[in-house]
Amino acid sequence: MKSFTIYNPVKIHFGNGMLAQAGSIAKKYSDNILIVTGKNSMQKTGTLDKLVKILKESGITVTVYDGITPNPTATEIDEAAKIAKQKKVGLIIGLGGGSPLDSAKAIAVAAKGDIPVWEYLKTPANDALPIITIVSTSGTGSEVNRYSVMTNPATGEKPGFGYECMYPKEAIIDPEITSSMPPYVTAATGFDVFVHIFEAFTGKAKNEFSSAYCMQAFYLLKDNLIKAYSEPDNMQARGDMALASALAGLAIDISGVSIMHAMEHPVSGNYPNIAHGAGLAVLALESMKYNLNACKRDYILIAHHFGIKRADKSDDEYAMSLIEKTKEILTALNLNVRLKDLGVEKDKLQKIAKEAFATMGFAIDNNPAVIDEKGVLKLLENSY
Ligand SMILES: [Fe+2]
Repeated sequence: MKSFTIYNPVKIHFGNGMLAQAGSIAKKYSDNILIVTGKNSMQKTGTLDKLVKILKESGITVTVYDGITPNPTATEIDEAAKIAKQKKVGLIIGLGGGSPLDSAKAIAVAAKGDIPVWEYLKTPANDALPIITIVSTSGTGSEVNRYSVMTNPATGEKPGFGYECMYPKEAIIDPEITSSMPPYVTAATGFDVFVHIFEAFTGKAKNEFSSAYCMQAFYLLKDNLIKAYSEPDNMQARGDMALASALAGLAIDISGVSIMHAMEHPVSGNYPNIAHGAGLAVLALESMKYNLNACKRDYILIAHHFGIKRADKSDDEYAMSLIEKTKEILTALNLNVRLKDLGVEKDKLQKIAKEAFATMGFAIDNNPAVIDEKGVLKLLENSY
């Protein structure tokens, strides 16, 4: 029997209108805080102003760093950490999608130390400012786990890292905030949830706890991913996708991700305009085919969970029907395209394959089927 240890200390506040509680939650940690967010969406939707008002009404001094880009760079993180030190803030709030949330964790670490954040890929961090996450997309899972992803702007490397001190203290998941996501973001982040569940459920590090999270997340996602995309005002679908995202985030905190994430990070690291979920979408089908024999039983369980009719299908045929189903989902989400359609140059595939091993080796090790650099290159070529 497999041995394992699991730990997740994040206090989760879920519900419509939960943002209103941000002041009383934040005040437990500090009355001088830094909000970390992106350049556009939280301003456009008014969520940033709303949060600042709520915090100020609780007597909190607020500084805003709104320089986080999609696929955030180590430079942005170091810049925000410098501001956190100058202002002597006692709490970092990440507001937005995966990029600001991941950045908030890295900033919390860098603000406590005296080395550039990139150094923490090699030097374990033991201390960080307290972190609160307020998530605006249903996809990242970052709201409830320790992981952070950052890009080196000079090289395009995009590794993930996560230490125990990087767990958010508390997470606010308010589906009303996610309702402002435009359709493309709903599709791409929603497919990220699908891949988190899929990779946590099939990876070598899976266990009964991560699988339990995955099963409930799949149950919520199967009826609501396409619904949230095609009916943006459907709050039941938005709420269920927010829950699926959090459950999947807890699952990957236990069991990690595998080959799709290992390949996708260098794709969007080298092409920062590619959304993480859109990158995963183009790599999913080939990766699923490659892994089928290594985890056929898992595919069959997921196919059953999706409600795909077994009829007289053999195990192989039934497992394959999950890949067909995934293709249908991608088509319905308008994400069923090729790597070249996303603007990736063919002569970059070798570099991407190399970086998958260099920066995401832990995810490759977690892949159900063994794969080498040549194998990864082949998957990238087949997805091109
Ligand atoms: Fe992801």
